[in-house]
Amino acid sequence: MNPKPQENITVPVELLTALRTAERVTILTGAGISAESGVPTFREAQTGLWARYDPQELATPQAFRRNPKLVWEWYAWRRELVAGVQPNAGHKALARLEQLIPNLTLITQNIDGLHQAAGSTNPIELHGNITRTKCFEDGRIISSWPETGNIPPRCPHCGSLLRPDVVWFTETLPPVALSQAIQASEQCDLFFSIGTSALVQPAASLAHKAQHNDAILVEINLEPTPLTRYVDFALHGPAGTILPTLLDYL
Ligand code: OAD
Repeated sequence: MNPKPQENITVPVELLTALRTAERVTILTGAGISAESGVPTFREAQTGLWARYDPQELATPQAFRRNPKLVWEWYAWRRELVAGVQPNAGHKALARLEQLIPNLTLITQNIDGLHQAAGSTNPIELHGNITRTKCFEDGRIISSWPETGNIPPRCPHCGSLLRPDVVWFTETLPPVALSQAIQASEQCDLFFSIGTSALVQPAASLAHKAQHNDAILVEINLEPTPLTRYVDFALHGPAGTILPTLLDYL
């Protein structure tokens, strides 16, 4: 029987069959999945004090070298923003899906920790996590430091500046996370790209690695992206509505 559309969303029966029969499912998420929690997507205009800065010019090691206080304060603002939000129905649906599909790998470009807050176990974080801090010099994770009023604070071990443990433009991704993500993409038979503009490499290439191995590709996004023409199923709409609907059909 063909599933009925719900809230204007039609889930193709072939997609449900693929999901029911898939042995390995890999899911890549981006800022769009957290948008309905109130976390602005990376490319959205910034608000308030930060409106005049281009995020792409704040999220680089060069920007940090040039003006560490500005970059630290920008991340402090984003950290506060993230601390005040909750996972939405999309995050929760993915956590439920993980319980239904044993071989599911969740990969995220988000640094907000909302997948974990929704109950997903061990998502692969490609771009780090905003709640962690590390030494700018040697990358050591630092969980506490003496409050001296310095902005940014200093590493208690070597005295270098501290920075958020996130990946900045021009930096390489954490190697273990990246190789796990590549492996999960190459080995899956069903790959979802959810709430990502599919523009930033290497994350954007993961879908193509999956397709190269004959995986079925699914995209969930408000609008078409450069990936759309390659996918088998494109579901356009908010992830926080589409994912729970998909789960209901399952
Ligand atoms: P972007 O901000 O580039 O794109 C967000 C995507 O989510 C867009 O394609 C939107 O159409 C879509 N979207 C927005 N709201 C949505 C919703 N409710 N449901 C479904 N889709 C929705 O974010 P990312 O693709 O995650 O990297 O960006 C990737 C990386 O680029 C980020 O991790 C960050 C950024 O520059 C670094 O900081 C290294």
